[in-house]
Amino acid sequence: MNDLQGKRIVLGVTGGIAAYKACELARLIGKAGADVDVVMTEAATQFVAPLTFQALTGRPVQVSMWQTDRANGMAHIDLTRGADALLVAPATADFIAKLAHGFADDLLSSLCLARDCPLLIAPAMNRQMWINPATQRNVAQVRGDGVVILGPASGEQACGEVGEGRMLEAEALCQALIAFFQPKLLAGKRVLLTAGPTQEPLDPVRVLTNLSSGKMGYALARACAEAGASVTLVSGPVCLPTPAGVTRIDVVSALEMRDAVINALPADIFIAVAAVADYRPAAPAAHKIKKGAERLTLDLVANPDILAEVAALPDAPFCVGFAAESQQLAEYAEAKRRAKRLPLVVGNLVQDGLGGEANQITLFDAAGSHPLPPGDKLTLARAIVRHIAEMIHAHD
Ligand code: C5P
Repeated sequence: MNDLQGKRIVLGVTGGIAAYKACELARLIGKAGADVDVVMTEAATQFVAPLTFQALTGRPVQVSMWQTDRANGMAHIDLTRGADALLVAPATADFIAKLAHGFADDLLSSLCLARDCPLLIAPAMNRQMWINPATQRNVAQVRGDGVVILGPASGEQACGEVGEGRMLEAEALCQALIAFFQPKLLAGKRVLLTAGPTQEPLDPVRVLTNLSSGKMGYALARACAEAGASVTLVSGPVCLPTPAGVTRIDVVSALEMRDAVINALPADIFIAVAAVADYRPAAPAAHKIKKGAERLTLDLVANPDILAEVAALPDAPFCVGFAAESQQLAEYAEAKRRAKRLPLVVGNLVQDGLGGEANQITLFDAAGSHPLPPGDKLTLARAIVRHIAEMIHAHD
């Protein structure tokens, strides 16, 4: 996807071992459509050769204030002019200290001081360096100055210690950069979503389930987080990574999903994307059901309708339902919207089964039906978020 098409990103790399991850980051940012200009500190070149970045970005790499290919010799000013963002990854404790105090004794720190574009930094250091009061003071100062701090993550460190201070992975940083450019249409809103299938136990080793991949729900959770909402995602069993900044609660059955949703309230917006099993075995067998009989009849009872229950609460959030239908989409989606008293239903015609990357969607609200142009699930999710934001702000 070309989420950074037309953008120019200056990627600053400082001297920490996480500099090796910046190579992958430069590639990902370029793959997302941006032009990437890499600026390294002298110390960074001890970890990765400038040629590596030059090969990955197809553009010259700048290190020194004094050896510049700029005609006017003003690389420390020119490089961020017209840039959409300056991202420093990794940002060492030393570099953050320099930022906090406005030092400008090399090309990258001078660029940071002379920039006229947003600055994002991804701290990376040993855990003791990170929790040191001096670093925390500097980070607070830098944040107060309007710099966006991405991470750090917790986990195993290059030095062998375990703790906070790891640089976020390249994929997460690229996603954070993409999110940075998305309009904050849901700033301050609490969004609760369900996604994925549910599994209803028949016996200790068998379940009734469906083919929902969870991709649409996860794309929506990401789009809501990108739009500035605080997002809780109640997820059935799926094999998908949790989108950045999203709080995920894993559940298995419809009953568990219902309880998790009720416990996660209050919310401003509830988006029910999960393909909740309509029925569950009335009495799951305590032991594995043995084969033998020619026919086996399952006794099923209806599951609670989570969306209908939330929509009927006295202080109900703005509720959005999904209608995946194999025929008569408009009729069924509109009927669902009225029956569950929902302001908005997202309808899609399931023709080729579930789990694909793309989707064709129509939105149904009190004003009528709004078909969206076909697209990948994240693009559609962002369009759904725009529609929700318009409806909410009109209501406010
Ligand atoms: O009634 P139907 O299952 O067709 O409605 C689909 C919508 O209702 C989806 O948004 C789905 O997430 C939600 N739903 C629910 N709990 C159920 C069944 C469906 O929240 N038990």
